[in-house]
Amino acid sequence: MTTILILGGYGAVGREAAYALTRQPGAHVIVAGRNPGKAPPVPGTVTRRVDAADPAGLARALDGVDTVLMCAETGDARVARACVARGVDYVDVTASAGLLAEIQALDGPAREHGTRLALSVGLVPGVTNLLARICAGRSPSAELLIGVLLGSGEAHGPAALAWTLDGLGRMDGSWTMRFPAPYGDRVVHRFPFSDQHTLPDTLGVPAVRTGLCLDSRALTRLLSAAGRPAARLLRRPRVRGLLLKLLGAVHVGGDGFAVTVRGDGVQVSFAGRRQSRATGRMAALLIRGLPGLPAGARHVEQLVDPVAFLTELAADGFTLDLSAAAEGAR
Ligand SMILES: NC(=O)c1ccc[n+]([C@@H]2O[C@H](COP(=O)([O-])OP(=O)(O)OC[C@H]3O[C@@H](n4cnc5c(N)ncnc54)[C@H](OP(=O)(O)O)[C@@H]3O)[C@@H](O)[C@H]2O)c1
Repeated sequence: MTTILILGGYGAVGREAAYALTRQPGAHVIVAGRNPGKAPPVPGTVTRRVDAADPAGLARALDGVDTVLMCAETGDARVARACVARGVDYVDVTASAGLLAEIQALDGPAREHGTRLALSVGLVPGVTNLLARICAGRSPSAELLIGVLLGSGEAHGPAALAWTLDGLGRMDGSWTMRFPAPYGDRVVHRFPFSDQHTLPDTLGVPAVRTGLCLDSRALTRLLSAAGRPAARLLRRPRVRGLLLKLLGAVHVGGDGFAVTVRGDGVQVSFAGRRQSRATGRMAALLIRGLPGLPAGARHVEQLVDPVAFLTELAADGFTLDLSAAAEGAR
């Protein structure tokens, strides 16, 4: 029996991971957060009230736990540190480069305690890291370009929406990428996803850029118009709060997503519906294989065979395309 504690376990991503983990033989799944009463329970799981920011409560919650899946954004590495100290394996879906660097710095202590810290887990980062490794392995490239297309009609979790809003206007640049049908060629705008910061180190690729667009072309134009002055306005607490409420309530567009990575002469893609589901399912699949992985802090592309892993993930209702040549996509 393996006990898995999901912090943020009834959020958009955590819920999907919880559903998938309950299907794994021998998994005892605890779904936790600060207000568990606000969401319907996930069948086959135990629900617990845990505030990850409360050290005493967190220490109690870790008792008897083998693995923590972190699906709550607390802004620092305190949960990872607590896990390392207790020899509890830790998997994080965060897309924040600063936080990943903080957790990466726990590599030495994690090796000493025999703890696994699995990072860059989810869709982006996560699937994009694995696609990037496939691209880099097929053709040495001076630069990898990553494109992320998200459905503006999906009910994204409040934490993911807040993360996206905070990223607006932080990086400059746009370029065109070809996404799988039905999307086609789209302009993506550079966005602070963590993969572009960590992949040069893990893959030895000189440069990586990640850009975002939405399935709705009109909303993508609006996103790009939110340059630095508009982004400053969005960071005012009242404006930010109002916009988050609006984005949580209004859904224009579909719930499809696609991610694609392009190197010299090679392009690979992964697509499907509901990015939260893809992220949760990816995390659950990684947790299944965790006991066979080495101790230490590593990104997913350093942990699994990318083709085998993505093929298995795709069998859960997603589409993997490893065949497209990049000609004509520029
Ligand atoms: N890698 C990827 O591809 C990817 C994709 C999507 C999302 N994400 C990341 O995944 C995270 C979750 O996103 P989401 O869409 O699932 O957001 P969400 O629906 O808002 O879920 C966040 C969950 O965290 C809980 N939480 C917040 N603060 C907590 C605390 N201090 N202690 C315990 N639980 C806490 C919330 O419940 P309470 O408020 O009741 O505590 C909620 O259940 C975000 O960090 C997001 O950036 C990554």
